[in-house]
Amino acid sequence: MAAVKAPSVLRRLREAGFEVDVIATRAALEFVTPLSLTAAAGREIATDATWFEARPDAQHLTLARADISVIVGASADLLARAAHGLASDLASATLLSVRGKVLWVPAMNEKMWTHPAVAANAQTLKNWGHHFLGPQHGAFGTLGEGAGVGRMAEPEEIAAAALELLKASGPAHTPDLKGLSLVVSAGPTREYLDPVRFISNPSSGKMGYAVALEAQARGAAVTLVSGPVNLPDPAGITLVKVESALEMHAAVLEAAQDAEIVVMTAAVADYRAATPKTEKEAKTAGEVSIHLTPNPDILAALGREKGGRVLVGFAMETHAGVERAALKAQRKNADFILLNYPTQQGTSFGGDDNQVTLVRPNGSFEEWPRLSKREVATRLLDEALQVYMQHSTA
Ligand code: CTP
Repeated sequence: MAAVKAPSVLRRLREAGFEVDVIATRAALEFVTPLSLTAAAGREIATDATWFEARPDAQHLTLARADISVIVGASADLLARAAHGLASDLASATLLSVRGKVLWVPAMNEKMWTHPAVAANAQTLKNWGHHFLGPQHGAFGTLGEGAGVGRMAEPEEIAAAALELLKASGPAHTPDLKGLSLVVSAGPTREYLDPVRFISNPSSGKMGYAVALEAQARGAAVTLVSGPVNLPDPAGITLVKVESALEMHAAVLEAAQDAEIVVMTAAVADYRAATPKTEKEAKTAGEVSIHLTPNPDILAALGREKGGRVLVGFAMETHAGVERAALKAQRKNADFILLNYPTQQGTSFGGDDNQVTLVRPNGSFEEWPRLSKREVATRLLDEALQVYMQHSTA
């Protein structure tokens, strides 16, 4: 069904103003003819056969220059190949080389879509900033498998989603941060009490990784200082892995020396053990108390030696958010703070979305809708760039 819908997706994309190149996989060509795809795209299509033709360019690299790649009727197989970096056919090789946005439109049976292997592959791709539309609830049509997750999005929805993604950040990945150095902190810190126990928090690091990836895609030189997280190391980004707040403090301050923009998304532990034990502590019968001492505030330290840098912080509040965040921005000398309410739905630790309010030290604020963390990163960097330009023209 997905392949059969492909020509009408192409027509919709062209109506929406896209110039479209088509890569037809071997499997797609079992269902739809090259002629109907060529007619719908208005130009010759690319296949594994054309990939190996004698030609002056490497076809996958030429195709990968697209502003957006839309995988219509994405199969579990192609998801797996993309998530694992395989390049055994033209579609996979192109996906390994793309710089623009990627929108997956899966169509598959619910059992396959919810299998942990497929879910993990989709998650890997999401972590890289790829977008997903569906699969949706509804009848499968000719597959006769009844209703459930699995139906591919309709052609007009696909065209609208592609357009929306490009609008979100202007033309895909304009290198508007080229020449700028950016430091991002991400994840939690661990404050060891003894060699095997620590105090920490559930920060997933996803927000910071999204900022780092988005900044890199827009041309910035990025250093990511990360606490322990369960995310793949992003390619092309200088990654400094740390554990404790003291280590993060040293790494961020060092990297920030050459940076124009510093974004502190890390959930830095406010306290550490005053005297961590060098040997494992055996349990004792009664209550114990731990003596904690405050950690240095990294953002505030950067704020004290601000220079021309743009400083961005995050804050979590449960009440009087804007007022408290504005005071926090003033206190730490940050240019703005993204405030979220951990108690609100859709903003919990570890999710893929975030609903934040941008708060400036003067108390002005903008409430953003619930967005993917990558989209929050896009808007954050738009604002940071604007502040940077104001600093440099002031
Ligand atoms: N931050 C930091 N160093 C710390 C603690 C926090 O750089 N030791 C940064 C965080 O990365 C974040 C911002 O400061 O950008 C959060 O400030 P914080 O004062 O910790 O605010 P909350 O986490 O909201 O907590 P509280 O209101 O208790 O201070």
